[in-house]
Amino acid sequence: MATGIFRATSQQWASRTLRVGAAPKLRTALTGQTLKRSTLSATAQWQQAVRPVLCASFHSSPFRLAPETAANPLKEPPKITAESITVGGKTYKTDSFTNVTPTVLEKTTRQLHLIPTHPIAIIKDLIYSAFPDFKHYETFSPVVTTKENFDDLCFSDDHPGRAVTDTYYVNEKIMLRTHTSAHQLKVMTEADKVLVTADVYRRDEIDASHYPVFHQMEGAQLFDAKTAVDDIRKSIAADTSAVSGSIHTTDTTVITPENPKQDCHDEAAMLATADHLKYSLNMMVRKLFSHEKDLQVRWIDAQFPFTSPSWEMEILYQGKWLEVLGCGVIRQDILINAGKSDKIGWAFGLGLERLALVLFGIPDIRLFWSQDERFLRQFEPSKIQKFKQFSKYPPCIKDISFWSNDDFHENNFCEIVRDIAGDIVEDVQLIDEFTHPKTKKRSVCYRINYRSMDRNVTNAEINELQEKLREEVVQRMKVELR
Ligand code: PHE
Repeated sequence: MATGIFRATSQQWASRTLRVGAAPKLRTALTGQTLKRSTLSATAQWQQAVRPVLCASFHSSPFRLAPETAANPLKEPPKITAESITVGGKTYKTDSFTNVTPTVLEKTTRQLHLIPTHPIAIIKDLIYSAFPDFKHYETFSPVVTTKENFDDLCFSDDHPGRAVTDTYYVNEKIMLRTHTSAHQLKVMTEADKVLVTADVYRRDEIDASHYPVFHQMEGAQLFDAKTAVDDIRKSIAADTSAVSGSIHTTDTTVITPENPKQDCHDEAAMLATADHLKYSLNMMVRKLFSHEKDLQVRWIDAQFPFTSPSWEMEILYQGKWLEVLGCGVIRQDILINAGKSDKIGWAFGLGLERLALVLFGIPDIRLFWSQDERFLRQFEPSKIQKFKQFSKYPPCIKDISFWSNDDFHENNFCEIVRDIAGDIVEDVQLIDEFTHPKTKKRSVCYRINYRSMDRNVTNAEINELQEKLREEVVQRMKVELR
């Protein structure tokens, strides 16, 4: 068994280069959230990991789930055993690098950016409208190779982003993407104007202000290197996109040896590409922040292994400079590998939560993952509206233990719970299981979290439901209660 692979503490990625769009460190307390920072030892984490993932939510509302297509492998619950991990319909062997946990793998099935009424998707769509003829990609599996996430993007072998403390590895060569740039090379082989939206994963604590999963959008545009200067001048002149309000941009960045032009680039073409990049992104934020009268934007120098020169964009929001994206002129080696050696291009990567927190006034990063209708029902496609805080009604928790049998399937069990308790069930978790050494019978214990969305539930009424459940599971599944 792979122990010793978990480091005691998870360090932040040492450099700034890969933190764009990461969860801002808010310190807002939120009632009713159940995610806790893991205090388990490495071995205990692994023991927990070898247990099948089961944390079902039973809400029939269409608001709760990403659009379900029968054949979407990303919707299949991930499975973890000591030897292998199945995620996105594919099975991978584990090894001494493996550090993905059930909780994080479960997130791969959520795909918040595909739920039209979710703030993340609303912002995604607004950004799409700022880049009208770009090709969209939004269903890439989060499981990528280290080659795609790092090597193809010119990351050095000792880049801190590669550390097992910072990155979720399925095994030595397979990982959960840490940024949407992992798909840059592939999409640039297919089109010259691309937008990739996806969930990205970085090892971090889990509490009100930290979250190991967030969403990014990657954009890239390529121009013919020979005609770039002219093409870009014409394209900016022809831009008729209506933007309301004014935008004040501060850009004191200059090309220096620390943030250099690539030797292979013609200076005029590179400068035109950089202008087009900044112009396009200024227009995009102007659109998003159309309610702000005088939007203040500033550009600062940055460093990424896959762009040079590189910058970050910051927006002045309620008196604070907020970092929203990283970008730059794409390294020519990457274009050559994409079969586009005669092109020059820009790329950006922006954090969608970062923008959503600000635009919707959402006080806590974990709310994005809420299954509560009072969260999800607040939003409408294409509309930015301020979040209204709500408090949760208290839960009522009941456990049920029984000897399972060969025909037992937890989905069937879940179906019975849903039948009996409907929306009053918030979640069901397998909290204990063991096999009797002599009889070889398997015992399971499920914890059911009953909680109404709109009223306090009484212990008496839940006891009644629980009693009904106990009767039904015996009758329908022929299991033996303990
Ligand atoms: N991938 C970078 C990050 O996650 C952002 C980025 C994308 C920077 C594209 C430059 C170009 O921080």
